[in-house]
Amino acid sequence: MKKSHRLDKIPPYLFVKIEEKKAQLLKDGVDVIDFGIGDPDLPTPKHIFDKMHEVLESPEAGQYPTSKGEFSFRQAVANWYKKRFNVTLDPATEVCALIGSKEGLAHLPLAFIDPGDIALIPDPSYPVYKICTTLAGGEPYLLPLTAKNNFLADLANIPKDIIKKAKLLYVNYPNNPTGAVADKDYLTKCVKFCQENNILLVSDLAYSEMGYDGYFPHSILEIPGAKDVTIEFHSLSKTYNMTGWRIGMAVGNSEAISALATIKSNIDSGAFKAIQMAGAAALTGPQDCVADNNKIFAERRNVLYDGLTSLGFKFLKPQATFYMWVPVPKAETSASFTEKLLEKCGILVVPGSGYGSSGEGYVRFAITLPKERIAEAIGRLKEAGITG
Ligand SMILES: Cc1ncc(COP(=O)(O)O)c(C=O)c1O
Repeated sequence: MKKSHRLDKIPPYLFVKIEEKKAQLLKDGVDVIDFGIGDPDLPTPKHIFDKMHEVLESPEAGQYPTSKGEFSFRQAVANWYKKRFNVTLDPATEVCALIGSKEGLAHLPLAFIDPGDIALIPDPSYPVYKICTTLAGGEPYLLPLTAKNNFLADLANIPKDIIKKAKLLYVNYPNNPTGAVADKDYLTKCVKFCQENNILLVSDLAYSEMGYDGYFPHSILEIPGAKDVTIEFHSLSKTYNMTGWRIGMAVGNSEAISALATIKSNIDSGAFKAIQMAGAAALTGPQDCVADNNKIFAERRNVLYDGLTSLGFKFLKPQATFYMWVPVPKAETSASFTEKLLEKCGILVVPGSGYGSSGEGYVRFAITLPKERIAEAIGRLKEAGITG
């Protein structure tokens, strides 16, 4: 079978390998404590299910949706953005429904990247940015995120010839995998950089609702003038424990939204209408479920952070996301430490190097498991003599 050269350029998706590894361990009878994929273990709130049940049997629920999304869903998104960020969006032209934000992020480069074009991509980062830039024939230019720069890409040091060829700049705060956040000053710098250099700013805001200790993340669209240069991706996956439902949205610059919708309309036919209606119910319904979730995640974060720091690991306590970006002991690499945790303790984490070369020296913990299990993991680390 002759496959495309394109396929040679991309690795198997990070989590496919991790899921395979976990399946093998479970088969071998290992009681795995899984800090791997960031998939909430908490249930989707009942009122969202109720809406789904209510609309499921209506005749139109089973018909083709439009790839840009039902107007009622787009209106719900616009209302939610107004309420949450005080950002005004026109649901007709500035909102597009997505089959999960991964779908939109994956399709975007097809609308903006020609062979030889550059996308400025943080490293480490959510793998889709880099992989889908490559699939579109573009070249990722990586912007290291390090403890030294507070995990904020240094835009001032990008060479001029690279900026000239750049079409996209990806920004993701609160950040996966580092858990870092960005203040409005930094986000304003990103907007200015894109305005000055005619670059589309791609903001991935998947974790905006997961803030702790009174911290509420910002949308880049809050910054005056940002809409001229920004497309923002969001998702109901993490906010409402809906990862498997596959529903998200792209919002912002109408030209960018229209370009994405053109790609989508030729490839997919949109998200299942009943899911869009349930998604609208999530956005317009009671929001106390979000605060309840965050209370649980904050407690889990405290148990893991206190446990790891008591073992000598040194890192900043994240203010947002359900990730912890933990430096590995000096003698280890990301991969060797991941291996060690699995073999000695039955603990599954993700090697930081899987998110890009600047992720080397770290592992990522996702706190998508009960605090009792997290405490058990700390106990196993102690017993195995593992220290930071
Ligand atoms: C940074 C980031 N963006 C986007 C996504 C995609 O989320 P979804 O496709 O479920 O909306 C994820 C999922 O983990 C993520 O971590």
